[in-house]
Amino acid sequence: MNPTLALHGGPKAVTAPRPERHRWGAEELSRLTAMVGQKSLFYANGPQCADLAAEFRQTCPAKWLMPTSSGTAALHVAVAALQLPPGSEIITSPITDMGSVIGILYQQLVPVFADIHPHTYNLDPQDVRRRITSKTRAIMPVHLTGNPSDMEAIMTIAREHDLFVIEDCAQAWGALYRGKPVGSWGHLACFSFNEFKHVSCGDGGIVMTNDERFGPTLAKWADKFYDRNSAADARNPTSLAPNYRMSEPQAAVAAGQLTKLPAIIADHVRLGSRLLAQLETRALPGVSLPAIDPRDRHSFWFCLLRLDLARFRCTRDEFAAALVAEGAAATPGYIPRPVYRYPLFQNHDFFAGFWPLREAGLTTMDYRRVSCPVTEAVLADSISLAINPGLTDEIMDQTAAAVAKVTHHFAR
Ligand SMILES: Cc1ncc(COP(=O)(O)O)c(C=O)c1O
Repeated sequence: MNPTLALHGGPKAVTAPRPERHRWGAEELSRLTAMVGQKSLFYANGPQCADLAAEFRQTCPAKWLMPTSSGTAALHVAVAALQLPPGSEIITSPITDMGSVIGILYQQLVPVFADIHPHTYNLDPQDVRRRITSKTRAIMPVHLTGNPSDMEAIMTIAREHDLFVIEDCAQAWGALYRGKPVGSWGHLACFSFNEFKHVSCGDGGIVMTNDERFGPTLAKWADKFYDRNSAADARNPTSLAPNYRMSEPQAAVAAGQLTKLPAIIADHVRLGSRLLAQLETRALPGVSLPAIDPRDRHSFWFCLLRLDLARFRCTRDEFAAALVAEGAAATPGYIPRPVYRYPLFQNHDFFAGFWPLREAGLTTMDYRRVSCPVTEAVLADSISLAINPGLTDEIMDQTAAAVAKVTHHFAR
């Protein structure tokens, strides 16, 4: 292979054609067509939300579930269902979407960030232990990139300290921890159907539980605390809850998508495993691959690699730019900085310049003093590579070749 980087006028490493991908088709269309003949598009009346629930249960056993308008909404519902007193702390990951923490803040609770494992990118159980205080009431592990968190360790900590566990499975459709689906380990779990996830209806989510303490009220927490099962007393809320309902059109598309989930996950797993196997054989100095426990199934929403920047004559962003020039679907890192470094956390500007919890003396949390060094390092030295069914085995092989070419070019 010509070693001249495409960035410097050499030939591209990734030349395989990218087939056009149709994410939505006959399965979604037939459900949408049936739906327009319905008398109602309201979730509690319609068959689409019921079908969605049935399809979801093929993926993850769920005694109770509620389809929601987004993954963020699902997580807010899960947090609200815990009914924790204001100022209670929920330990979560600082490398995640804002959707993980929005509900925590709206419920007048305190997100506490624990550091991650340097190669799984998931919560480090040892650091979770260190961050437990007398106010800790729950842990929210995020199965980042599709790699399951260490749920045995997290559930052990939860049992020892009497904590609830909410699994954020937004990025981990189809992932298995010790052979069991993610979502089935904690007390509650949440999934996302946003545009960018394994399966999508544009926007949507699901919150689920098998715990009878939360199951019977789950729907109410997403529906103004109205009780749709009680015709006589439907509108007589005893708690404050938003309207986070999913409607029938979203559910028709989401249910159609879930019929294809096994095939979609099989594609993600095959492509992701192939890319990693190719990179592993090349044993590239200074490039570390994500750690995957052989007992688990990583569902490869994307692939995050790390660079040992001391071994390269370039910055992380220059490495990523060189990969893009080679034709690889690469981006630098994931989110730009840990969540606690976002301006709203640094300024404690959660409610129009105020954080009522702090002003009321219910927390002394100061996000300017939070430090998660592993997360900061990962976000500074990682590269994301896209994995999705629109890509092919050949593209994966060529992507690995592109990483090798750029590595050798910039190696010290
Ligand atoms: C880990 C994680 N949690 C929560 C969310 C929020 O999901 P949604 O965009 O559906 O609100 C996302 C979405 O990007 C996510 O990746």
